[in-house]
Amino acid sequence: MTYEQEYQASIEQPEKFWLTKAEQLDWFQFPTQVLEKDENGIDRWFVDGEMNTCHMALDAHVKAGRGDQVAIYYDSPVTGTQESWSYQTLTDTVAVFAGALQQQGVTKGDRVLIYMPMIPQAVVAMLACARLGAVHSVVFGGFAANELAVRIEDAEPKVVVSASCGIEISRVIEYKPLLDKAIELSAHKPERCIVYQREQAQADMQGDRDLDWEQATSEAQAVDCIAVKATDPLYILYTSGTTGKPKGVVRDNGGHAVAMRYSMKAIYDMNPGEVFWAASDVGWVVGHSYIVYAPLLSGLSTVLYEGKPVKTPDAGAFWRVCADYKVKALFAAPTAFRAIKKEDPEGTAASNYDLSALETVFMAGERLDPPTYDWVRQLLGRPVIDHWWQTETGWGICSNLMGVDPKPCKAGSATLPSPGFDVQILSDDGTELGPNEQGHVAIKLPLPPACLPTVWGDIERFKESYLSTFDGYYVSGDGGYKDEDGYVFIMGRTDDVINVAGHRLSTGEMEEVLAAHPAVAECAVIGANCELKGQQPIGLVVLKDNVDIEEVNLSHELIQSVRDQIGAVASFRTAMVVKRLPKTRSGKILRKALRQIANGEEYVIPSTIDDPASLTELEGVLKAVSFA
Ligand code: COA
Ligand code: AMP
Repeated sequence: MTYEQEYQASIEQPEKFWLTKAEQLDWFQFPTQVLEKDENGIDRWFVDGEMNTCHMALDAHVKAGRGDQVAIYYDSPVTGTQESWSYQTLTDTVAVFAGALQQQGVTKGDRVLIYMPMIPQAVVAMLACARLGAVHSVVFGGFAANELAVRIEDAEPKVVVSASCGIEISRVIEYKPLLDKAIELSAHKPERCIVYQREQAQADMQGDRDLDWEQATSEAQAVDCIAVKATDPLYILYTSGTTGKPKGVVRDNGGHAVAMRYSMKAIYDMNPGEVFWAASDVGWVVGHSYIVYAPLLSGLSTVLYEGKPVKTPDAGAFWRVCADYKVKALFAAPTAFRAIKKEDPEGTAASNYDLSALETVFMAGERLDPPTYDWVRQLLGRPVIDHWWQTETGWGICSNLMGVDPKPCKAGSATLPSPGFDVQILSDDGTELGPNEQGHVAIKLPLPPACLPTVWGDIERFKESYLSTFDGYYVSGDGGYKDEDGYVFIMGRTDDVINVAGHRLSTGEMEEVLAAHPAVAECAVIGANCELKGQQPIGLVVLKDNVDIEEVNLSHELIQSVRDQIGAVASFRTAMVVKRLPKTRSGKILRKALRQIANGEEYVIPSTIDDPASLTELEGVLKAVSFA
């Protein structure tokens, strides 16, 4: 099969195409209605199919004789731990933890929030929810209590599952005080918190609400998988939008399972029994899809790595893990390789390890800059595959189908649209643009399986954010173009979302924090290019009249506020006082022009500007900021 045949089949006969792919999974009731509109007019996949994602990912493999195969390699340089969990062990542990959740009253459709570091118990908790038909919402450990509170309030979980701590290199981050504070801040109060105690920190338990993981499981019985509809939600994953309130991306069970299983082979060329490593975090979409669900649905062994690319203990960490577990394909964010390159520019650490099993390196999460692409390719002498995707889609929108028909790569391009994604470049008025013309990257409906059918509890926000800009299209929020060969080049967000070290963040959310400071009259946060992290936020603030505060003190306070309200992961380290912000005559801050100045790009002074001098006077200030 060529890429062209595979892709055309998916676009011309999507129902036939995806039904064939669905056959690879063990359904309770195989679907006959493949693509239907729901009550909101949204396309839904496999509507009459019945299944359970946990069954497909675990029990079905045990039944098929894979019980002894390793499901998870847990590798934690920060605690000095290496563990192998077989499919049988993982299935048994998940069944008992599902029993524990059930004892706490969790049933189908209930939400369970998971706030955990990169430990196997996080995966156990996710799969246990799936087993019960409960909806999990995993929150990344780097977020502050306030962010956690926002998610608790929106998802309204019956139970929260957490751990006593995470470990950042050698720093122990206690989770329980953050969780307690988040629950205090939230109007919704979960009935129960189940806490996994790690030896690095002991969590203080609140008697009537908190329950120790060990105690919860010791009193529980294993339970079976509960049948759910393919369209029932599997999880909610919050992601940054353009406003202060994160969006709860909803993932269904059936479409997700099919897309995960399909992509694991088609994009990553992985076969049952092989070892895959996504060096991400279960708190991000890459972690959901390619640490947990896709590898397990495909009968692979997945690596769960609790460490960093550098400093745990050195720049050879990635190569050591690849060698230890005979990783066939590694998936990480470009920023991770930039961090390795910074510490080990010649890549000498790689030569200390046997990397013969490693065939391909995949990258996503942010733009793969050509120097990083070249460095990794030359160092390893293996294909480096850039692919583009979003939390909303759950898998690669554009990719190189390594398991179908690998194409030559072009530096800076995520190659070609993945099957099912009819990617078009549109002008501001929605006209399809030709080769090499830059515009909005949009996807013609219907979206393929796994893509979000709604924003949790807010169908209008879903329609307004993604479907209302161009009739008949999903708008991605990214800008880019296709070249004469149809290769897609993603050039960056067209909205106020930024990408810092592969982490998606909202400048609007940071602005809300800065604006809340009593000395600040107005502010703007923009993303400036950074050699290591891709982008870094810069805050520009205008003081209220007659405010008397030292800039250095204000700057510290603002940095601390963002850290307290959003989290360390925002990497907000630069706040500057300016006299005024450039605006249009209607009062809109000209963020795009500010960004262009900060990045040393050419910019055109917009004709709508109120006072051109307000922009030019910031040139000196912004050009002086640089991130190494
Ligand atoms: N829990 C608590 N804090 C966390 C955290 C977590 N899970 N993850 C990050 N943080 C903290 C860091 O400790 C750091 O704190 P500090 O400001 O006190 O030093 C801060 O958040 C910023 O983290 P980060 O942006 O990751 O910077 P870093 O200097 O610690 O590490 C890299 C830089 C490049 C090594 C790291 O960002 C990395 O590995 N990136 C890959 C990202 C990735 O896999 N993304 C997934 C998308 S595919
Ligand atoms: P997230 O939802 O966190 O996965 O972030 C999605 C965003 O990351 C996209 O909208 C892009 O802006 C960016 N992104 C992800 N992968 C790539 C890529 N391969 N090239 C360029 N940008 C990317």
